[in-house]
Amino acid sequence: AAPLRIALAGLGTVGGGVIRLIETNAALITRRAGRPIEIVAVSARDRGKDRGVDLSRYAWEDDMTAMAARDDVDAVVELVGGADGPALTLARNAIQHGKSLVTANKAMIAHHGLELAELTEKAKVALKFEAAVAGGVPVIKGLREGAAANNIDRLYGILNGTCNFILSTMEDTGRDFSDVLSEAQAKGYAEADPSFDVEGTDAAHKLAILSAIAFGTRIDFASVETQGITRIQAADIAQADALGYVIRLIGIAEVDEHSENGEGGQRRLFQRVHPHLVPFDHPLAHVDGATNAVVAEGNFSGRLLFQGAGAGDGPTASAVVADLIDIARGDLGGEAGAPFSIQVSEMETMAPAP
Ligand code: NDP
Ligand code: HSE
Repeated sequence: AAPLRIALAGLGTVGGGVIRLIETNAALITRRAGRPIEIVAVSARDRGKDRGVDLSRYAWEDDMTAMAARDDVDAVVELVGGADGPALTLARNAIQHGKSLVTANKAMIAHHGLELAELTEKAKVALKFEAAVAGGVPVIKGLREGAAANNIDRLYGILNGTCNFILSTMEDTGRDFSDVLSEAQAKGYAEADPSFDVEGTDAAHKLAILSAIAFGTRIDFASVETQGITRIQAADIAQADALGYVIRLIGIAEVDEHSENGEGGQRRLFQRVHPHLVPFDHPLAHVDGATNAVVAEGNFSGRLLFQGAGAGDGPTASAVVADLIDIARGDLGGEAGAPFSIQVSEMETMAPAP
């Protein structure tokens, strides 16, 4: 069968991982996708940088947005980052040129996901972003597909690998915050600007995306109450330990059906990210390192726990390539490519928490 031909923008931690995965597991991917996935063109900022992968077989595009117009490309993979800028220009152009888009960019989806979803619904192409939330953990697929029949009442979890790595390593070793953050950066867990991690913004982006999927609501990043971990000190961790708790950065989203302040009985969506005291006997207290864990409470499924590596090249590449396999199989994600499993026009608007 004809290959799915892709263009890859961004060749850093995740982009490098995607090339290695597609090359290493080529035969298995072809078997499972029903056809090969073939990289046609690549782009990044610095053409001369040694990335530890052989790029000589792929066309190089200095202007990544030009990849969107290539006739020999079926799908574009955006692994550049940033809510706006070249990532967003590329995403819009790709969809408008009839290409499916795969991205790991939670900032872009949290800010512009609905606009991109509307474009893909019109163009009848796919918009897929499994890697944008919880790295290698298939939580978007799990909520969209596995839990599709449920009313989700509440969703919460550990959504940032860098913060969890910092908190759990400080707890285990007594090491200094900035020293452990440097290690998280060296391991490829952190954002290009790590203040997005430690100030809670990255977890808030992910929570806003998950909420939209779980509750069928419009993405509302602006209403996520956000506090990061920059003020947590070794003494806080020791004090928590003495009382039988660990400190974890937790994102929580829940719907209040009976809000007294709701106008005309309107439902409110409460979304917040902040450091939490988690008792030793709670499953989230044992989530260490760059692991993420998401709990969703469905009205028929009961409590579902999605857990695994939340950051890093291999796990994130695994989620990106899973999305490409779906596209190669012809699964564009719901009717007319509706990327949230329902169409944007059918999504609810909820009043944000006061
Ligand atoms: P990196 O910083 O490692 O890589 C970014 C890549 O984009 C680099 O190749 C860089 O080029 C290129 N790039 C950046 N800015 C520009 C620009 N203005 N023009 C052209 N190219 C540009 O980031 P990651 O691989 O870590 O992250 C990529 C995306 O994946 C982000 O959206 C991130 O949030 C997301 N993500 C990351 C995870 C992780 O664990 N790292 C996990 C899940 C999602 P050059 O190499 O030449 O500098
Ligand atoms: N910087 C992010 C994290 C990458 O640490 O969780 C995965 O989205």
